[in-house]
Amino acid sequence: MPHPVEIHFRDTDLEALASHRGNIALILDPSKGLGETGRRLNKLTKGAIKRAVDSEGFAALSAGEMVPISWPAGLETELVQLVALPKRATAIEARKAGAAIAKRLGAKGALVLADAHDKAADISFGLALRAYRFDYHTAEKPAFGAVDFMVAAPEEVAAAAAPYAALTEGVFFTRDLTGEPANILTTDDFAARLAAMQELGLEVDILEEDELETLGMRALLGVGQGSESPSKVVVMKWMGGGDEPPLALVGKGVVFDTGGISLKPSGGMEDMTMDMGGAGVVAGVMRALALRKASANVVGLVGLVENMPDGRAQRPGDIVTSMKGDTIEIINTDAEGRLVLADVLWYTQETFKPSAVIDLATLTGAVIVALGHENAGLFTNDDALVGDILKAAKAEGEGAWHLPLDPAYDALIKSAKADVKNSGGRHAGAITAAAFLKRFIKPEIPWCHIDIAGVAQRSETALAPKGATGWGVVTLDRLIRDRFEV
Ligand code: BES
Ligand code: MN
Ligand code: ZN
Repeated sequence: MPHPVEIHFRDTDLEALASHRGNIALILDPSKGLGETGRRLNKLTKGAIKRAVDSEGFAALSAGEMVPISWPAGLETELVQLVALPKRATAIEARKAGAAIAKRLGAKGALVLADAHDKAADISFGLALRAYRFDYHTAEKPAFGAVDFMVAAPEEVAAAAAPYAALTEGVFFTRDLTGEPANILTTDDFAARLAAMQELGLEVDILEEDELETLGMRALLGVGQGSESPSKVVVMKWMGGGDEPPLALVGKGVVFDTGGISLKPSGGMEDMTMDMGGAGVVAGVMRALALRKASANVVGLVGLVENMPDGRAQRPGDIVTSMKGDTIEIINTDAEGRLVLADVLWYTQETFKPSAVIDLATLTGAVIVALGHENAGLFTNDDALVGDILKAAKAEGEGAWHLPLDPAYDALIKSAKADVKNSGGRHAGAITAAAFLKRFIKPEIPWCHIDIAGVAQRSETALAPKGATGWGVVTLDRLIRDRFEV
């Protein structure tokens, strides 16, 4: 919905401080003195800065937190933020500092005095990520004003921040898609938003229902058959990496999940507008890759369907044949995400012979029971791949946890009537969902399934207001940089 806030980097200009009308944020290492900029601000405010820095409140701050000084005498600004950030701060701490600044950002923008802090680009990234709003209130709040960073080496910082601008666009795209209600983000609308990314140099193909039928994707089509919106598979390609086989990203794109005939209870059902969150992450990563012109080959595939109860809807007890050829007994029409992914995963492997497959899905409530909202659940047939994903997630400050997937769990999804059933009941629900997906992965292909049901949407975090987080976009971009870029 909102565009990322405009950010500029320039030389420090002490003469501009007194008359600045937007917020002023001073980045301070608590173990060091005020520095030249701080001393000037302190002089202008007749010692208020020094008193605040010497206060117990400032001493109690963790890296990336701030104390506010409101309506300081001697300055035009309404707010000075004293941000505690040690010189040796981590990138994560620096992003938190930026986010603390963004949280108080208004229409008049802000001035960030970062001097020679070597994580200034990360401060700007955190600021950009937190300066996000998604709502349909008609009394529209004014847009965030531009932010000026005063730094010792503006060109260097601007160069370091350039890929972050691409990532911010990617994260915002994911959040926008995930936040949209299902009457607006229909399967048609979703596909159109993805097709629009052709402007960025992505190749985008849309497979419609008749083609999916020809391909034999009865597992996916069964989920969407009770909806007025047509089911689709959208393929996005970014081929920036020569002749290498691509990495494939696959996303669950259930634009709304009523549960189908196995109808969900009405309390909280409105949250199921985010059941396309996995597809949203795939789309956001593809956008970031295109914007930063990544030198990697990546294909992104999303299965777009709506799970509705209807006279034509799939029933419990139905048996469908997947594109792979395996028959599936439908025990619960609410276990629909795995049915969608089964066919898209199979199609992805057959079509692209990828070097690795990563799927993202708001797949189970059970993963929320296991991990809450702090960590996504990871399942794999390849410990090296999951190790690299965990490393990327850690570096980017996104929670991820490796859960087991041994063959012993396969017994829970054995069907008396078909090759497999789509629900294993209450026990180990996140694992049996992953075990189901594993049937549709060729054993020689490194694969990781990421269940993002708990992390795609949550209450306020350091880097995002309440709502869609965009979890995974920065982690996967980091993974692609570290492992797949040529
Ligand atoms: N989309 C849901 C999972 C979900 C739950 C996502 C809460 C986000 C928040 C999924 O399609 C679902 O309904 N899963 C069922 C599976 C069960 C029927 C085997 C679940 O988790 O209860
Ligand atoms: Mn469901
Ligand atoms: Zn679902």
